[in-house]
Amino acid sequence: MDSYILMDKADFDKQLSEETKWIEESIKEFLPKGTTYQKTINDAMEYSLMAGGKRLRPMIIWETYKMFGGQDKKQVLPFMAAIEMIHTYSLVHDDLPAMDNDEYRRGRKTTHIVYGEDMGILAGDALLNYAYEIAVLSLADGINIQNKAKAVQILSNKAGIFGMLGGQVADVENTGKPLSEEKLEFIYSLKTGALIEAAFMAGAVLADADNNSVKALEEAGHNIGMAFQIQDDILDITSTSEELGKPVHSDEKNDKLTYVTIYGMDKAVKAVKEYSETALDILNNLPVKNIYLNTLVEKLIGRRK
Ligand code: IPE
Ligand code: IPE
Ligand code: MG
Ligand code: MG
Ligand code: MG
Repeated sequence: MDSYILMDKADFDKQLSEETKWIEESIKEFLPKGTTYQKTINDAMEYSLMAGGKRLRPMIIWETYKMFGGQDKKQVLPFMAAIEMIHTYSLVHDDLPAMDNDEYRRGRKTTHIVYGEDMGILAGDALLNYAYEIAVLSLADGINIQNKAKAVQILSNKAGIFGMLGGQVADVENTGKPLSEEKLEFIYSLKTGALIEAAFMAGAVLADADNNSVKALEEAGHNIGMAFQIQDDILDITSTSEELGKPVHSDEKNDKLTYVTIYGMDKAVKAVKEYSETALDILNNLPVKNIYLNTLVEKLIGRRK
């Protein structure tokens, strides 16, 4: 691994907390208003979306957008809100009784526990659909239309059967079964990697980055996604529900084979570092730099939540 310029811890922590707050406030503005008899869905959407969370994917969009010279918040915010809605929908559905059957998420009771299973399903559907309503509506101002259309295409592809959804299908179908290295990488790369790839790509595309850079960012996103999911598996064993805001030992309860159960804790910890370093190398070879983004990737290696 090359050496990187990383931010000073205090400066990074300050920017991280300011940016997270700004993202929270901004995406809240995109929630639907003006419903009547279907109002419960607004409440359930807001409940799940505004429960906290690291806001990693919108942050990556913002940072890659700036990195390639993007300056107009208004142009990129709809995509930041959309990806966080898609991610939140994936969590709401992942927690359903038919899936991982978990009762806590982002430090509160899961949406289906509070609003019922019917509303849990519908709130997930609503977040997914509304994400595209927001993203497509952003084309109406006539500005940067081609790149925005490309960003919508990336988002829809990476969320769908060739992305997150496809990964969840293989995850569910292979529960309790032996997993080859190749299949495990397929599942992680899709269920978790794909939306992170989308974030890296969409921000750059909106700032009109060149194709080679977008390809490299996709690869960086893949590596960060792998590291992120392996760390998620590690935390499912080593963390506490208070710290994580979601239950621990969910994988064991659901008879899931994970990177940790297959290869052991030591190899898992090493893999998180290796995947992250590969990602940092890729970022470092881009024509433009973003020290905050590098530091964010580096901090994810040892994340505790
Ligand atoms: C959780 O994602 C699901 C996985 C892909 C492992 P995050 O860890 O980003 O969840 P939030 O958004 O911070 O709640
Ligand atoms: C699911 O992985 C990733 C998604 C696409 C939601 P997990 O099932 O391990 O995620 P958590 O641990 O419930 O957040
Ligand atoms: Mg799951
Ligand atoms: Mg789960
Ligand atoms: Mg997990």
